[in-house]
Amino acid sequence: MLDSRVAETLSQILGPKGFTTDAQDIAPWLTDWRALYTGKASALASPASVAEVQAVMRFAAEHQIPIVPQGGNSSMVGGATPDARGDAIILSTRRMNAIRSLDAQANIVVAEAGVILANLHDAARAQGRRFPLTLGARGSATIGGLVSTNAGGTQVLRFGTMRKLVLGVEAVLPDGQIYEGLAALKKDNRGYDLTQLLVAAEGTLGVVTAASLRLVPDILDRAVGWLGVESPEAALSLLQRLEAESGEAIESFELVPDGSLQLVLQHIPGTRAPLGGAHPWHVLVEYVRTNAAAVAPEVALEALLATALEAGLCQDAALAVSEVQADAFWKLRDSISEAERAHGPAMQHDISVAVEDMPRFIREASLAVERAFPGVSVNAYGHLGDGNVHFHVRAPAGVNGPEWRLSTGKAASHMVYDLVTAAGGSISAEHGIGQMKRDELGRLSSPARLTALRAIKSALDPKGIMNPGKLIP
Ligand code: LAC
Ligand code: ZN
Repeated sequence: MLDSRVAETLSQILGPKGFTTDAQDIAPWLTDWRALYTGKASALASPASVAEVQAVMRFAAEHQIPIVPQGGNSSMVGGATPDARGDAIILSTRRMNAIRSLDAQANIVVAEAGVILANLHDAARAQGRRFPLTLGARGSATIGGLVSTNAGGTQVLRFGTMRKLVLGVEAVLPDGQIYEGLAALKKDNRGYDLTQLLVAAEGTLGVVTAASLRLVPDILDRAVGWLGVESPEAALSLLQRLEAESGEAIESFELVPDGSLQLVLQHIPGTRAPLGGAHPWHVLVEYVRTNAAAVAPEVALEALLATALEAGLCQDAALAVSEVQADAFWKLRDSISEAERAHGPAMQHDISVAVEDMPRFIREASLAVERAFPGVSVNAYGHLGDGNVHFHVRAPAGVNGPEWRLSTGKAASHMVYDLVTAAGGSISAEHGIGQMKRDELGRLSSPARLTALRAIKSALDPKGIMNPGKLIP
């Protein structure tokens, strides 16, 4: 597909490690993590520096070649998978994986786009700091992708999503110019906030090559509990009580329906249920201490949970007795996506409503969807304290997955998104729009939102070469 002179020039600029048109080399990067989308690409470019990204972008602009930026390839919405045309170049950021600087005094780290989240965690911890955003895919998700999707995860309660942690961005724009926005300025009034515009842009406005990120003090220790609760209402009341009584010590509060826990136990080797009895809902809670003068976290959390049990806000609770057990509790939570993927076809909806409205939304929307589509089952799990759950609609057993997704599954998704929109919520909380939700964004957005999105896109990427088919309806 790629003109041979173009291929030769790019290969000269990027070197053998940085450029390939070999179908076998490219194949692993053509399908998304959930294996819902498979596209085609003419080449895989893996620049090792910002200058090389610029060279690729200048070239792409000149020859009108679509560019699909890709980090850890862990998008949940097909955001990093090329379309079926076959003329795109995948621009992998994986070789740009340096931590350029880490200033523990200033609490700022500058990481290149290809730095894997778990490696950033380790680098911060080595300096007594931490980067307070984490998620199940931390072993593969990269900084560029996390910035470009405004990722959330399981630690948003206290520190917010990626947007809150991004202090600056360096990016290559579609014509090859560099946007130098890494300086972490507390005050900066030069008009539109281009840094934040690039956050959640999903690679449609340029390629994020590095980011300045906020660090916070490392924790001294933590306590992790697994609770059995009766309903999302009870879980939210419990969270509000825990937050009122513990200040900012509750850093995670994750809701897990029993259906999701059972899938994890079934599909993920070495997992076991923390509680003996059966519960319709579960909560994973993490309480942290950053200050040695404070009460030990296991003591504090145990006391809090004792009063919660008395008040009937939870029915049973297990406190991890070691870090190994704490990790085992977390593994149950972090493996839900993997277990669901192994289990069978489902429609995944990463949605948000106001925190207060979420328990009712889960109850009413689950009922409505299960009634409208007999045989499906809903599992809503995740970040209750952020008003964000992954509202998954599982297909009845035995159906043909791809066929079901395109027929009943699609209709079920419509319904979920209609209900979310009617509730004043968002059809994408933390995964982005990608290709999965692009049409739904078009269907359900106000004219004002669509006009602004399209105007920004065409102003910065007039040739439409940046990640075509994603985000912009
Ligand atoms: C999670 C992913 C799906 O929360 O966002 O597990
Ligand atoms: Zn999530």
